[in-house]
Amino acid sequence: MNRGKFIALEGGEGTGKSTQSRLLAAALQEGGIDVVVTREPGGTPGAEAIRSLLLDPPGDGWGPRAEALLFAAARSDHVEKTILPSLDAGKWVVCDRFLDSSRAYQGGAGGVGDEVVLALHTIGSKGLRPDLTLLVQVPPARVAARLAERDGDTSDAIGGRDASYHADVAASFSLFVEQEPGQFAVIDGDAAPEEVHKRIMAAIAPLLDTPA
Ligand code: TMP
Repeated sequence: MNRGKFIALEGGEGTGKSTQSRLLAAALQEGGIDVVVTREPGGTPGAEAIRSLLLDPPGDGWGPRAEALLFAAARSDHVEKTILPSLDAGKWVVCDRFLDSSRAYQGGAGGVGDEVVLALHTIGSKGLRPDLTLLVQVPPARVAARLAERDGDTSDAIGGRDASYHADVAASFSLFVEQEPGQFAVIDGDAAPEEVHKRIMAAIAPLLDTPA
C-alpha cells in the first residue's frame, strides 16, 4: 500500500484556510483519493480538549512556553492517533494548521524561538513534516474586514492578540518560505473561494503525479 500524502494549510487569521481545506478534501475525494480532513489544535478528543484550554484559557492565561508545550502535546496526540495511522493506511491528510503555526505564533511572535518549537516537535511528533505546506496569504486590511464579518467582536485568546503580534506571525511565515522554498506553495488568498481553490489545485498537482 502506498503511503498517503500529508498537506498542511497555514496562514494568519481569516485567510480562508478552513474553507479551502474542505474544498481541497472534497476535490481529492472526487478524484478517487481517500482523504482525512482535520485541524490543529484538535483532531482527536484529547487534542480538542487542549484546544479549549488554549483558546479559552483558565485564569490569566498561559505563558509563551506553556502555550508552546500545550500545542506540542495536542499535536503529538493528533499525529500519533489520527495523522500517522491515516497516512499509513494510504489516506491523504489535509490539515488546517500544523507545526508552522507553532513556529510562527509561539516561536516567532511569542518569542519562544524556532529551535525550541522544533525541539518540542521532535520530542512530541518525531519531527513529522507535511509533504507540502500551502501558505495562504491575504493582505491585513482585507483580513480585518473578513474577521469583522465572521467574528464581530468575539475572538479567541490568540486570535484577539494585537496587530503587532499578528504582523510578527505573518513575517515569520514569510521567513519560513525564504528558508525552505521547496516545502511551501504560497497561495494568494485574496480572491473568491472558488478561485483560491483553483490556485491550490494547481499547487498540489505535482503531488498527484508522484508515487508515494
Ligand atoms: P484556528 O482559529 O485557525 O482554528 O486556530 C486557532 C488559533 O490557534 C489561531 O489563533 C492560531 C493559533 N495557533 C497557534 O498559536 N499555534 C499553533 O500551533 C496552532 C495550530 C494554532
